[in-house]
Amino acid sequence: MSWKTFPKVELHLHHEGAAPPAFIRGLAKEKSVNISGVFAEDGSYVFTDFVHFLSVYEAATQVLKTPEDYHRLTLAVLEQSAANGVVYSETFLSPDFCGNRDLSAWREFLHAIREAADQAERDMGITLRGIVTCVRHFGPDKAKQTARCAAETAGDWITGFGMGGDEGQGRQGDFAYAFDMAREAGLRLTTHAGEWGGPQSVHDALDDLRVERIGHGVRAIEDPALIERLVAENIVLEVCPGSNVALGLYPDVASHPIARLRDAGVKVTVSTDDPPFFHSTMTQEYEQLEQAFGWDEEDFAALNRSAIDAAFCTEDTRARII
Ligand code: ADE
Ligand code: ZN
Repeated sequence: MSWKTFPKVELHLHHEGAAPPAFIRGLAKEKSVNISGVFAEDGSYVFTDFVHFLSVYEAATQVLKTPEDYHRLTLAVLEQSAANGVVYSETFLSPDFCGNRDLSAWREFLHAIREAADQAERDMGITLRGIVTCVRHFGPDKAKQTARCAAETAGDWITGFGMGGDEGQGRQGDFAYAFDMAREAGLRLTTHAGEWGGPQSVHDALDDLRVERIGHGVRAIEDPALIERLVAENIVLEVCPGSNVALGLYPDVASHPIARLRDAGVKVTVSTDDPPFFHSTMTQEYEQLEQAFGWDEEDFAALNRSAIDAAFCTEDTRARII
């Protein structure tokens, strides 16, 4: 079966990380911004490991200077998603990257992103919601400011708060204040954990940040007690197999723990993370899971059901998807 047109729900996508390389190159040229070191000779993004990936990602965001740039980026991203059969997506939006770390224009950036999302919904039939996301290696103080941006714009479109960035920096609990502020504003919560950090980082995310979803979380496979906890507490994992393989966490999809986690009763979903960086698409993710584990239409429908149920959207929106 070709999975291209199969209706998909994607819960874990970084807005800038989904920028097509040609789009970033074009903006760099238009604005005469030097972003040497971002691209390989063949024009794709280039990085050697996770920490290098994060710095290349940040270097690429230097060309995204105005709300209009984010309007164009949003359309470029959603075109790719829609072309891969995605009907509902949640995107990680970092006010830090909108406007090169100056958070004061966040509302204008958000307005431009929403306008583009509305246009894409009309023209391409894809629904987008935003998760404001702090960047872990920018530290807890910046995270608080980001949570304030999130709280001020919380509503039916900004529906969640999360954290990405370098899991090697600090502890989940250092960011509890930011997550508490977001929770009080009515936002739903997720954080990256159990990608580069071991099982303890997932326990910490649940205990200290009280999130209901975990970005990645795949290293839970190393701790049977954690697996039991994820099942008992109905925690949903935003699993990105292609990203984990591209960044060297697992040698190939066949060795990836997604199938073992699912078979143990954990709610897993599938996303791309930063598709052009990892040379992946939602279609390819499905194809590789079919090849590695023999998953079929029923398996993917169940996966999408878990994703819809865990989506940070209103019941009305949920009822419209798929
Ligand atoms: N930001 C973008 N992609 C990420 C990833 N895979 N892990 C943590 N932070 C990220
Ligand atoms: Zn991610």
